[in-house]
Amino acid sequence: MINLLEIEKNFLIPHIKKGGVAVDFTMGNGHDTLWLSNAVGEEGKVYAFDIQPQALTNSQTLLMKENAPKNYTLILDSHSNVKEYVTEKICIGMFNLGFLPGSDKSITTKRDTTMIAIEAAIDLLDADGALLIAVYPGHEEGTIEGQLIDEMLSKLNRKEICASKFRIINSPTSPFFFLVEKR
Ligand SMILES: C[S@@+](CC[C@H](N)C(=O)[O-])C[C@H]1O[C@@H](n2cnc3c(N)ncnc32)[C@H](O)[C@@H]1O
Repeated sequence: MINLLEIEKNFLIPHIKKGGVAVDFTMGNGHDTLWLSNAVGEEGKVYAFDIQPQALTNSQTLLMKENAPKNYTLILDSHSNVKEYVTEKICIGMFNLGFLPGSDKSITTKRDTTMIAIEAAIDLLDADGALLIAVYPGHEEGTIEGQLIDEMLSKLNRKEICASKFRIINSPTSPFFFLVEKR
């Protein structure tokens, strides 16, 4: 069976710029931060956000253990404040919405801040840049986030942005993702 979360990063590969700037909007345990750090390389820069101190600790441990390039800044703040930290244009960005598996489920991404962060991320995208947004509709907030993101992305000007959705159509609670590509 296809696992969309295993293949999603392949869609970012054509948009990676060595030495470019990347953002992990939901750091969690740092797996995506690690991937982004290797993707942009030693000369690049990665900003990673989370509101849980534990996420920064876990991510720092993973990045050190895996010898990631020292190109990352871990930020304890909401991704909705991204523009207070990131002033450069970004080549790739990732949202892995929801809560950390095995931790407090009430600390989940929330529709209001998620939408602010996605709009800011689109604004920060460089020409030919791309964003991945993984959504978990298996819980109520995730279902609503998915609907709101779908509505917002559907209205974007197709001459500037290509917005796609990848979903298993007979499994409505399975995770799915959006890809946002700037022309
Ligand atoms: C599904 S996990 C991310 C998994 C992570 N990308 C990884 O590779 O391990 C979602 C994370 O989003 C974080 N989060 C929730 N609200 C947030 C917000 N407003 N800003 C930044 N992160 C947030 C949660 O604390 C949680 O760690």
